[in-house]
Amino acid sequence: MARKFTADRLVIASHNAGKIREMVDLMAPYDVAVSAAGELGLAEPEETGTTFLANAELKARAAATASDLPAFSDDSGLVVPALDSQPGIYSARWAGPSRDFAVAMARVETELSQNGGAPEGADAYFVSALSLCWPDGHAENFEGEVHGTLSFPPRGEHGFGYDPIFIPGGYRITFGEMDPEEKHTLSHRARAFEKLVAACFPLDG
Ligand code: IMP
Repeated sequence: MARKFTADRLVIASHNAGKIREMVDLMAPYDVAVSAAGELGLAEPEETGTTFLANAELKARAAATASDLPAFSDDSGLVVPALDSQPGIYSARWAGPSRDFAVAMARVETELSQNGGAPEGADAYFVSALSLCWPDGHAENFEGEVHGTLSFPPRGEHGFGYDPIFIPGGYRITFGEMDPEEKHTLSHRARAFEKLVAACFPLDG
């Protein structure tokens, strides 16, 4: 049985404005004051974990310990099985210091070609790992995935990161071409959020 969230304050252990916005929206139905790690002057720990869940948990734990408040964090990325699960936890790093995802997407295509596989239609999935950690060290972790295939060249102006090369299963358009509202109903992050809310934030208390 997951531990329920009963506090009236929550720290978002992220310095990413988009992720902070999503969490504030998610917490809107609850009587919870949300603060971002940056507002509290908390440093970002190094992501030394070898899994999405380990990195999500280490970020949440660092913020919960430093603030003495429950903290929430997410870690996500694109997994390509034909590339030995790369870019995976290194998804952001593949875009280089300038965070150029055209570079990262071209690298996925090049590495698939070099591995002898066809880039077009290669299986891929996004993963979102969420961690909610309390100051006493207890953590509740959840993961969501959305599976699909890759398509090149990148298409669509919506979304971010690898969205323009990812076609979710059952669709013909990329996440980059999809209306953001629709993406949010089926994304890896939405699926992980659903699990977190059902387990730790039940509206009936
Ligand atoms: P992190 O979770 O901040 O370490 O970075 C995750 C990286 O994975 C992002 O910078 C994106 O490149 C990629 N990523 C995660 N979720 C998505 C998504 O929904 N669409 C496209 N790219 C994503």
